Amino acid sequence: MKPFNVYPLQSITPVKALGCYVWDDNGNRYLDLYGGHAVISIGHGQPEYCQAISQQASTMGFYSNSVQNPVQVAMAKKLGELSGYEDYNLFMVNSGAEAVENAIKLASFQTGRQKIISITKGFHGRTSLALGVTDNPKLSAPVNTVHNTIFIEMEDVDGLEKALATNDVAAVIIEGIQGISGIYEPTTAFMKSIEKLCKTSGAMFIADEIQSGYGRTGKFFAHQYAGVTPDLITIAKGMGNGFPIGGALISPKIEPYFGMLGTTFGGTHLGCAAGLAVLNVLESEKLMENAMRTGDFLIDELKKLKNVEVRGRGLMIGIEFQYPIKEMRKILLEEHHIFTGVASNPNTLRILPPLSLSKEQAVYFLKSLIKVLVKINQHEAVSIN
Ligand SMILES: Cc1ncc(COP(=O)(O)O)c(C=O)c1O
Repeated sequence: MKPFNVYPLQSITPVKALGCYVWDDNGNRYLDLYGGHAVISIGHGQPEYCQAISQQASTMGFYSNSVQNPVQVAMAKKLGELSGYEDYNLFMVNSGAEAVENAIKLASFQTGRQKIISITKGFHGRTSLALGVTDNPKLSAPVNTVHNTIFIEMEDVDGLEKALATNDVAAVIIEGIQGISGIYEPTTAFMKSIEKLCKTSGAMFIADEIQSGYGRTGKFFAHQYAGVTPDLITIAKGMGNGFPIGGALISPKIEPYFGMLGTTFGGTHLGCAAGLAVLNVLESEKLMENAMRTGDFLIDELKKLKNVEVRGRGLMIGIEFQYPIKEMRKILLEEHHIFTGVASNPNTLRILPPLSLSKEQAVYFLKSLIKVLVKINQHEAVSIN
């Protein structure tokens, strides 16, 4: 048997990783500005995190959700404290798509309604409900094509109002910052309209913070820049720093009952030990502050480049050029040993490094990027301090 061949693979075999670096099987070191799709939040191989996982694994890695689990209670408490959502409840799963699936289901349970409003170009995952609110028909199998989603453009308040006026909408779902489409942030005015119109129509407001959350933008959640309070918030990726956990933060107005939701692997002892360690390190190493500081520096410097549009916040950055970034990305990887990410927009380079990225590492990237731009005849040489 061999792996089902659905991923186009780069020709690199990483075998070791520490902090913001990854090493391949030939001993070459790479700067990781992608964190394996925004997953590595506190850095690769962080010692406190590794210790917490190995200790929990050797004590008790798993028992089902039918017994008391103090590690899950501690994880939820810490998440409430750091995120500012202390009065919300946490339902844990194993991935982003499952988090979205359960958030939509909860919104439908709560409202008794079937329709969902979602934003064009967004991505929410590949399970059925998550695909239904993802604006990319190429990802859907025939069985996925029947769904109850109304797509509206980002910032289209009239469209939102019209769609909600039917009064059969269970939820509006929006990414805190659109990630895969190329790093597009909704305006504060749009987020506030969603909040207000959801309240008026009785729909639930779901913020998908799977990519933009967990400190990546400098605040715990990206939607907190807009000063809004969603009813449901989905999380995954940076939550486990590589350990596969996800979840939904649930407003206290949604009452649980036994059997309402369930999962075998969500919220295991081992997963929660990993998740708790991530939160502890995020706090003790002041990684949100670092994400904001290093991110601001990077964004300011990148904005000095000519003919480039820079979008994002903190360490969630989209750099849009006036031509495809394929060649630039290849040179960054092969000659400068820097991992970067792509977006569905072929001209946009997506930067999602561990939140521990230092200023020196950011400078190395900036200098390397300029060398690449010079090489491909897109920039005169300039120096970065
Ligand atoms: C905003 C957003 N939501 C949901 C998902 C789906 O997460 P997963 O791949 O863990 O199912 C992703 C993954 O990239 C994402 O970026």
